Amino acid sequence: MKVLLIGSGGREHALAWKLAASPVLTKLYAAPGNPGIAGEAECVAIDIADHAAVAAFCRKEAIDLVVVGPEAPLVAGLADVLSQAGIRVFGPSAAAAQLEGSKSFTKELCDRQGIPTAAYGRFDNALAAREYVREHGAPIVIKADGLAAGKGVTVAMTVDDALNAVEECFDGGFGAAGASVVVEEFLQGEEASFFCLCDGKTALPFGTAQDHKRVGEGDTGPNTGGMGAYSPAPAMTDALIERTMREIVEPTLKGMAEMGLPFTGVLYAGLMLTADGPKLIEYNVRFGDPECQVLMPRLKEDLLVLMNAAVDGQLAHMSARWRDEAALTVVLAAEGYPANPRRGSVIRGVDEAAKGEDVVIFHAGTALKDGALVANGGRVLNVTALGGSVKEAQARAYTAVDRIDWPEGFCRRDIGWRAVQREG
Ligand code: AMP
Ligand code: GLY
Repeated sequence: MKVLLIGSGGREHALAWKLAASPVLTKLYAAPGNPGIAGEAECVAIDIADHAAVAAFCRKEAIDLVVVGPEAPLVAGLADVLSQAGIRVFGPSAAAAQLEGSKSFTKELCDRQGIPTAAYGRFDNALAAREYVREHGAPIVIKADGLAAGKGVTVAMTVDDALNAVEECFDGGFGAAGASVVVEEFLQGEEASFFCLCDGKTALPFGTAQDHKRVGEGDTGPNTGGMGAYSPAPAMTDALIERTMREIVEPTLKGMAEMGLPFTGVLYAGLMLTADGPKLIEYNVRFGDPECQVLMPRLKEDLLVLMNAAVDGQLAHMSARWRDEAALTVVLAAEGYPANPRRGSVIRGVDEAAKGEDVVIFHAGTALKDGALVANGGRVLNVTALGGSVKEAQARAYTAVDRIDWPEGFCRRDIGWRAVQREG
């Protein structure tokens, strides 16, 4: 099978690495890819925002399956253009991708299907939003309705902060994403990420993880795309997985199908494990980054076979088994991340570091310049390790991190702390 993978981050390197291990694969292309992905795939310089160009490439190369990594092309309708051209694609239509692209779309679905989530109000003007904030008090959560690259959410601990966040949204701070605002109840508990493969009718549970969104140790400082992750999430017991499937994921697939928007691809539920049970914080319509980097090394199955089954509506016949080991990934970021990462510094020792026991290093924001590996983004490398416990995986990952020679990079030294504490 000839496969085209869309994307260029650490998530896509992990997907490329796993797809490349499939006996069914004959050729893997990646657009645009990165220097790490280039070890697994032929990288092609197609503009992935040019959907017609992607479709033309697929026809020319007789691509059997397109796998879309990031959300932006899905929300923009890449899967629709490909499907209309008769090209098989793993990833939801633009209409189904509203589960990530529009917070109010998901909230309304939750209302209709009785899915547990935070109580909320949706507002098109600041006046009404301010009133709601004053009425409910703090803590309270303010969210730009649309896609804001993970930056549209303010967890406000005071009414003043909440009112400022409302202003920021309506002042155009998040562009079109902030034209409408969701204000919701603050949920208390432990967060966990839960993944399912979906074929429109059936959802196959596909692993759990926890990430660290804050840039600083002890989960402090500004939010980022994620500074590290581990899998499985110890808090997600089998009983909680079963309950999440029954109360959250299955009603979602049913509701989407009823609306004529069957969901195909990865459904990533961000959950708050509250005293009243799991509640949906948000949906994403793709793998997490860096959560994917800890799922793939644990997956025992052929990812390509499972993705094909999802596209063909055959997931009811499939299962997913996982290695018992824990996986943990540490994100190495460029100085200045997340506000203003500095590009261009040289990184040495990655291949040596990757020789560590049960270590695999995924590239995120890297580039080659005059034969040298350089930083080319905010999150740059994902140093991943397996271990008999989170603690062991953590020790192996940091041993590999310390072998990388990159003075202009940094990482958190406490990835996995909560799980390690739980292990005792
Ligand atoms: P989101 O982009 O919706 O995942 O929100 C980013 C982060 O904000 C989440 O991972 C949570 O840590 C936090 N958050 C979002 N919604 C809530 C909520 N209703 N209660 C508490 N924390 C929340
Ligand atoms: N790591 C969080 C996300 O991918 O949305």
